[in-house]
Amino acid sequence: MSRVALVTGGTRGIGAAIAVMLKEAGYNVAATYARNQERAEAFKEETGIHVFQWDVADFEGCQKGVEAVEADLGSIDILVNNAGITADATLHKMTSDQWHAVVDTNLASCFNMTRAVINGMRDRSFGRIINIASINGLKGQFGQSNYAASKAGMRGFTKSVALENAAKGITVNAIAPGYTDTEMVRAVPEKVLESIIAQIPAGRLGKADDIARTVLFLADEAAGFITGETINVNGGQYMV
Ligand code: CAA
Repeated sequence: MSRVALVTGGTRGIGAAIAVMLKEAGYNVAATYARNQERAEAFKEETGIHVFQWDVADFEGCQKGVEAVEADLGSIDILVNNAGITADATLHKMTSDQWHAVVDTNLASCFNMTRAVINGMRDRSFGRIINIASINGLKGQFGQSNYAASKAGMRGFTKSVALENAAKGITVNAIAPGYTDTEMVRAVPEKVLESIIAQIPAGRLGKADDIARTVLFLADEAAGFITGETINVNGGQYMV
């Protein structure tokens, strides 16, 4: 029977590419979305991927959502914590709402979602947790103290949960995409984006499929000895 994969924020951008690539590789895939129902329905229609709506920042919502996915598709073997938002502002202008929205959606969601699936994975002695972090969590970014903090936090989370679950056949890894051609990056002011692309040795933005391919690699049974790691996929923009 094919393994079940759940991708949060999986109906648009990088998440959609991940969901599609996993499905094409034979996984039974569910994708979550928070608000944009029209886009989610279109995605479902186009790809045949199951879609579910809940807010990953809501702990109870994640518990109920995971129950609904498992009732439909079976136990979740692979969780991709991909859902994320930006609310860019310099710290001296940032509101408390901008801080909390970003930290709750990007980082607290990793706790909410992983907490909902981890005991099942431990019981079955298999699991893959893949957290989509960011180059900016590693290097910092002007106007992104909230986003960079949330993405850096994912790295500590990844390593800790990896340690706790390595003996149970569960790997926990992060991928840190660089600037990738998605709606999120296209929303960056044009001048700023031009200056960022000039700093990418590969000379281009990443493609969502560059990230999806890395997820596919980590999700495989054969990647079972890689855990607690962060893989940078950034065209050489930042090397750690
Ligand atoms: N480095 C240094 N100085 C900068 C700068 C930078 N990167 N960006 C702006 N500044 C300077 C400006 O030149 C300006 O200086 P002057 O007043 O001397 O002219 C000053 O800072 C204020 O700039 P703005 O007028 O742009 O300020 P603002 O408050 O209107 O906006 C901002 C600031 C919100 C940070 C805006 O510049 C912005 O949106 N930047 C993009 C941030 C970014 O890269 N976000 C990534 C989103 S994609 C993503 O996050 C995905 C991923 O994982 C990679």
